[in-house]
Amino acid sequence: MSGGAVDSAAFRQALGHHPTGVALISSTDADGEPVGMIVGTFTSVSLDPPLVGFLPARDSASFAAIRKSGRFTVNILAHDQEDICRALSRPADQRFEGLAWSPSGNGAPVLPDVVCSIDCSLEACTPAGDHYFVTGSVESLEIHRPVAPLLFFQGGFGGFVPGAFIAPSDAIVAEGVQTVQHIRDGMQRLAHAANGEVTVYAKVADHAVAVATVAGPDVPTSTILGSKWPLTPPFGEVFLIGAPEAEVEQWMNRARSAGEELLRTSRERLDHARKHGWAGSYAGDTRDTLLFPALTEYGVDGVTPAKQREIQAMFRAAGEDLRPVDLEPERQYQGASLVVPIRDRHGRCELMLRLCRIPPVSGSRIEVLADELCRLTREAERSVGGSPDPRILVSSP
Ligand SMILES: Cc1cc2nc3c(=O)[nH]c(=O)nc-3n(C[C@H](O)[C@H](O)[C@H](O)COP(=O)(O)O)c2cc1C
Repeated sequence: MSGGAVDSAAFRQALGHHPTGVALISSTDADGEPVGMIVGTFTSVSLDPPLVGFLPARDSASFAAIRKSGRFTVNILAHDQEDICRALSRPADQRFEGLAWSPSGNGAPVLPDVVCSIDCSLEACTPAGDHYFVTGSVESLEIHRPVAPLLFFQGGFGGFVPGAFIAPSDAIVAEGVQTVQHIRDGMQRLAHAANGEVTVYAKVADHAVAVATVAGPDVPTSTILGSKWPLTPPFGEVFLIGAPEAEVEQWMNRARSAGEELLRTSRERLDHARKHGWAGSYAGDTRDTLLFPALTEYGVDGVTPAKQREIQAMFRAAGEDLRPVDLEPERQYQGASLVVPIRDRHGRCELMLRLCRIPPVSGSRIEVLADELCRLTREAERSVGGSPDPRILVSSP
């Protein structure tokens, strides 16, 4: 222990509770060979002028080479680059062995698939205890892959999960698969009759995960099992039927943060779903070509705040198309999608049934299909001992 009452183990342990990002600081040495070190101390320092910083140990040989070159590139590692981080933590002379990289604008290594890279000239190197506080003047920067970054926390690596709670996902998915066994024939019949696709989704944390899907003869199945999309308002309202008030409030808060227009659409969709016991969406083109692919990608790459803003902008652009409508019996509707909650024995909705990819049909045909879907749902509920709340049963058209 030195310089005070804090011993280094306690210092490390307490500070390990503060999460950090993980970055590679790279450069080349006098022979043009790549040099670099992994740091958890990378930070932005100043906007005007643009400065960034990191804190290398004073005895780091890699930093000595970086300092000598007078320039460096910051590589922000992505959540799926833990292996690369470990490779870059090998002894300095083996660090880049077998790793692909390309030279950045200033000649320093940029790794493939990093979140972003920042080229800097070394501005200042100030002693700070057994480390230096190094600042770099930013010369150029590039976002390569706007996905969740790699994080270091309590001695381990992980990713970023936004204000979500973690649900017992295995149990819910298993229950979904069991439920499907009881209604598979019915799903098949409905998919054929509607010439569409019938899919069961399980609610896992704040995502919908596809657990079973069947398609009519002319429909290429395009929902991939296991694919998931976030329950971002105004989507996901049927899962809120029978949900505790706190969960509804959480969804509404997200809608509120998306602005007045999306808040109104979300509220209308939730009211419609509560009143009818099912939800319908008729914005086929926008929904299937734009929103769903973006949402599914979001489900795969992780829910980054940047992606969330991008999707909210898409929702705003879809505007009126997402508002619930009162069906006109004679009118033709293109790209209808109908969703019905499947309630468990506590009246909670952790599963839902969705009919989509149907050809253009009249409003009265949609009512019939919705009724069929609701019948199938009640069959599923009976199979798991669900006790549907009579207030939210759909009335026959
Ligand atoms: C997640 C993580 C964060 C790190 N952060 C720093 C840091 O901020 N400063 C530092 O000097 N070393 C840090 N290290 C250790 C260095 O990567 C490595 O030990 C150092 O480069 C070894 O020095 P050398 O390159 O001279 O051999 C970190 C290592 C890991 C795995």
